[in-house]
Amino acid sequence: MKRIQDVELSGKRVFFRVDFNVPLDEFQNITDDTRIRAVLPTLRYALDHNAKLIIGSHLGRPKGKAAPEFSLSPVVRRLGRFLGKQVMMAKDCIGDEVKKLVSEMQTGDVIMLENLRFHSQEEKNDDAFAKELASLCDVYVNDAFAVSHRVNASVAAITKYAPVSAAGFLLQKEIDYFKKAMADPQRPLVAVVGGSKVSSKIGALENMMHHVDKFIIGGAMANTFLKSMGHSVGKSKVEDELIDVAGGVMKKAAEKGIKFYLPVDAVVAANLDPKAEIKKVTVQEIPAEWMVADIGPATSQLYREALYDAKTIVWNGPMGVFEIDAFSRGTMAMVDCLANSYALTIVGGGDTDVAVHKAGESDRITYISTGGGAFLELLEGKTLPGVAALDQADK
Ligand code: 3PG
Repeated sequence: MKRIQDVELSGKRVFFRVDFNVPLDEFQNITDDTRIRAVLPTLRYALDHNAKLIIGSHLGRPKGKAAPEFSLSPVVRRLGRFLGKQVMMAKDCIGDEVKKLVSEMQTGDVIMLENLRFHSQEEKNDDAFAKELASLCDVYVNDAFAVSHRVNASVAAITKYAPVSAAGFLLQKEIDYFKKAMADPQRPLVAVVGGSKVSSKIGALENMMHHVDKFIIGGAMANTFLKSMGHSVGKSKVEDELIDVAGGVMKKAAEKGIKFYLPVDAVVAANLDPKAEIKKVTVQEIPAEWMVADIGPATSQLYREALYDAKTIVWNGPMGVFEIDAFSRGTMAMVDCLANSYALTIVGGGDTDVAVHKAGESDRITYISTGGGAFLELLEGKTLPGVAALDQADK
């Protein structure tokens, strides 16, 4: 695919598809602006190269209807502050008013379009809608890694109509780090996989089986594996229909000589209330009326040792219910392991990066992906539709 640095930007109207799907509190304040900061190098580069910047994004899931709570105006204010210049907010992303605004742009102007998902055609990858967006620009740049797994008009179809399409620096960086970790890793390569469901990680486990030297498993998904080994896991979340699949994954890993680490102890509670009574038990002793809420201290120690010689670590999914302090130690211990490791460390997936930020260790991780679903699809070995569209446009 073409890269932004391969394209002439001077005097050009450049449409940047970014992912400003940032979390907002009840007063519409941005609670985490990582995704805005992540595209600043691309936007500053375009300003330095005398482009006119038209920025498009989605925010939330407004289901094809305009709704004030999904407006991008809070983002515009923050972006303006970061760029140190006024960013104009368009009332819509298509239509005559937008066309007029764009036609009056001068070099160095920045316009933010309103939420692309206020039009149902966006998520339908509608050609007419894509064509209208493309008509606003001379150059299209995808710097929205986190939404590049969606076949949306501003991510996929637009590349059929934009005169030139290219990848921004964030998209390039995400893919480069991922390749470094999976395609050509320094070994041992260890995948740490957690989170609540085996079902949402099974594709990733099966694909990573072709790449990794060790798997380390945590989170509620570990219960299904433990059950497949014959352990009783009390009232813990288990996907009974996947017990055999989980057993199959472990068998395949053993056949390939991949080490497969499961919890040896757990923090259990009667329920997931922050004030619930808790105890530490081995996985052989999980009481019938209790549930697993975190990995235990012996498991954290075991995992620390398993990661000691790693040269590359990829982590997706927390070790326990880390949002509740009493059940956060396993996840925080894992953050600490990665932060203190000499390995190349890559973290991805919404919850996992929240945990790293919560621990204040984001600067000590080699790379934190801005993607949740998109990162998982890469782990599954899929080509992201947004990337495929750029490749196709370059043919
Ligand atoms: C994300 O936050 O993962 C992306 O912005 C994609 O959002 P979506 O899941 O609503 O498509």
